[in-house]
Amino acid sequence: MQTAPRIGTPLSPSATRVMLLGAGELGKEVIIALQRLGVEVIAVDRYENAPGQQVAHRAHVIDMTDPLALRALIDAERPHLVVPEIEAIATDALAAVESEGVAEVIPTARAAQLTMNREGIRRLAAEELGLPTSPYAFADSLDELRAGIAKVGYPCVVKPVMSSSGKGQSVLKSETDVEAAWQYALAGGRVNRGRVIVEGFIHFDYEITQLTVRAIDPATGEVATSFCDPIGHRQVDGDYVESWQPQPMSALALERARDVAHKVTAALGGRGLFGVELFVRGDDVWFSEVSPRPHDTGLVTLCTQRLSEFELHARAILGLPVDTALRKPGASAVIYGGVDARGIAFEGVAQALAVPESDLRLFGKPESFVKRRMGVALAAGANVDEARERARQSASAVRPVAGDAAK
Ligand SMILES: Nc1ncnc2c1ncn2[C@@H]1O[C@H](COP(=O)(O)OP(=O)(O)OP(=O)(O)O)[C@@H](O)[C@H]1O
Ligand SMILES: [Mg+2]
Repeated sequence: MQTAPRIGTPLSPSATRVMLLGAGELGKEVIIALQRLGVEVIAVDRYENAPGQQVAHRAHVIDMTDPLALRALIDAERPHLVVPEIEAIATDALAAVESEGVAEVIPTARAAQLTMNREGIRRLAAEELGLPTSPYAFADSLDELRAGIAKVGYPCVVKPVMSSSGKGQSVLKSETDVEAAWQYALAGGRVNRGRVIVEGFIHFDYEITQLTVRAIDPATGEVATSFCDPIGHRQVDGDYVESWQPQPMSALALERARDVAHKVTAALGGRGLFGVELFVRGDDVWFSEVSPRPHDTGLVTLCTQRLSEFELHARAILGLPVDTALRKPGASAVIYGGVDARGIAFEGVAQALAVPESDLRLFGKPESFVKRRMGVALAAGANVDEARERARQSASAVRPVAGDAAK
């Protein structure tokens, strides 16, 4: 893609083609943003009728961790941009696609490689960039884990190096928790390699996502970094349940958060939106991790910013200018499946949308699980407290029930 991009006509030889690797609820919103800009979109996921596949020009179902299958699909579709939406991807295939000039990988193949493994991004942040992080150690066995804990102390958190959404993650208070944590991590890792990180527990006042955009500044033709207002969020078992924007912060903490976000995103490079996860206590800030793509807690920007994080990502990857302005305080609250069933229905939608300044996203996932995120309620308000209250009220009005034909 050139720095002064043009956009073609979808489904014609001039089309600007973008391939999303992963087409969940976040990918779906990126695809909608791209569709609005006249981009031809190809949505790839590992199961049929994934949310983003329902709004794309074409859909493919492949195992994205299979490098041959991934490369064959990219060669067949010839997208201009390849946009990872998930971490579990054959990143070596992406590196080859990038270095051979077949397509541009967003933000870079190296960023995808470093962030799919907690070890890569942690060593970059702490050891190369010198950013503040929790104390940490890596371990490949129960004995090494004990040695690591001796370094970082209790309480601590054990996580598989390859996992997301809190899978295989546990908090340890004492020696009696170690063996169970090791077993849990082994079972919960994405790839059963049995490598874990143990981190000292940070007693933070609050945690934020600092959405950070690397986009071309039309005045200079160069990549410039811009920041959204900080997003506060609450996690339960490693999964976000509500988020709000803006999270109030001291001036110094905000400055430090942005400094950390700037440095880590500059090191990853490329163009696009990043979700930088940070812990904050008083004026102190710790780097936790970073997604080189829209972040789930950033769903709130659908009701708070002039351009949502998804629109920002779409613009940035296309080489277009961005605007990170906040319009109004707002909040999001997650709607879980509540049942294990295919083709569920949602009751209470009218009540949910009767909440002032509220909105809903029902993702359209074909299969529901009790703890699967099936939708999100959004609400704006005069302030964050009012918005949070509204979002919670709206989310709790929605009742997922087993399917049957809609009446
Ligand atoms: N060292 C730590 N100290 C205190 N809390 C922590 C620490 N590590 C993780 N947590 C808590 O657990 C949550 C999930 O951790 P983390 O982001 O590392 O896991 P994850 O599986 O990548 O989650 P996700 O994919 O949802 O971001 C954090 O947002 C934070 O609330
Ligand atoms: Mg996280």
